Amino acid sequence: MERSRWLILVIFTCLFVFSEGREFKVKHTHHTPVYNHTLTTILVHYASAVYVSDLTELFSWTCERCDGVTEGFQMIELVVDIQNCLQAFVGVAEDLNSIVIAFRGTQENSIQNWIEDLFWKQLDIDYPGMPDAMVHHGFYHAYHNTSIRPAILNAVKRAQDYYGDINIYVTGHSMGGAMAAFCGLDLIVNCKAQKVQVTTFGQPRIGNAVFATYYSKFLPNTIRVTNGHDIVPHLPPYYYYFPQKTYHHYPTEVWLHNVGLESLIYPVEKVCDSSGEDPTCSRSVSGNSVIDHVNYFGVDLKGSAWRSCRIVMDHGLVDYGRTDAEGNFVVSREPATPVIKLNTLSAAGDNHV
Ligand SMILES: *[C@@H]1O[C@H](CO)[C@@H](O)[C@H](O)[C@H]1NC(C)=O
Ligand SMILES: *[C@@H]1O[C@H](CO)[C@@H](O)[C@H](O)[C@H]1NC(C)=O
Repeated sequence: MERSRWLILVIFTCLFVFSEGREFKVKHTHHTPVYNHTLTTILVHYASAVYVSDLTELFSWTCERCDGVTEGFQMIELVVDIQNCLQAFVGVAEDLNSIVIAFRGTQENSIQNWIEDLFWKQLDIDYPGMPDAMVHHGFYHAYHNTSIRPAILNAVKRAQDYYGDINIYVTGHSMGGAMAAFCGLDLIVNCKAQKVQVTTFGQPRIGNAVFATYYSKFLPNTIRVTNGHDIVPHLPPYYYYFPQKTYHHYPTEVWLHNVGLESLIYPVEKVCDSSGEDPTCSRSVSGNSVIDHVNYFGVDLKGSAWRSCRIVMDHGLVDYGRTDAEGNFVVSREPATPVIKLNTLSAAGDNHV
């Protein structure tokens, strides 16, 4: 009796050691990125802060969401594309010794309408320079054909001139995740940036399998976080029986979900396989939740109110900004200048524009 229990223990120990060792090896041969929970939960706060509509509080990093793990962030550029209702920023997180770029998700009056639209998005344009890679024009143009891209690239260049070749983290939620992906690719392919890492939350699919393959070659360290039954990562739909025609996610998904054993429920962060469409991750459940879409790691990923696109700021901020002919707005600070304080802005006038 004692002897057989001993044997079972030995077998289990061997199995455990063996499987640990094997997992380690697979990770390295497939270049699965190392998933860093701490870093990801810092970045989700940036993806949340970019939803703040008071530009003065956001630019001076004094908003309610601009605290805790992101304290000390130095904003360099804040851009609001009024025509297309987009918002993004670039700054430097000294704690991370990195540039952080964040894109806001959709700010339409109804997120339900936006989600319904996602069912019908076509793969309708070729990604330049990547044969057979197709993407959806709306996601592509939101980054490439608006006032967002020139403002972002200009700010990254200024940050690099001042801080040197530091890491660049690109993040965003929902539609902002799609824009973060195009931005990361743009930095690598067109701007010859080196240390770029993309982390997105609840992003939709943006291209076909060929695009996903190119994408993961250029940005192998991308983390695409999905949450429970969040509907958006399920869209536009994936048709596995039409492999040439369907949308296809790029790797590496990290699926947040709860595992329950009777009254014991605990959260799991599952690092998924290198296919981009791991059937044992978010695809294993139905995407039927909007609630799961707007909160990741306990952090709100939406505006405090759904509002139409308008600019909210103090007159003081106007001195740092410029507006183009279409009403799009950019606020900038040179990295070498002191961080702008809220009280110096308010002193210049506190009427809302
Ligand atoms: C994870 O990221 C945090 C924050 O950037 C960093 O301090 C930590 O060293 C990282 N951990 C690993 C294992 O790389
Ligand atoms: C880019 O946007 C402008 C308007 O903002 C539009 O007229 C033009 O057709 C767009 N270009 C492409 C290639 O879609």
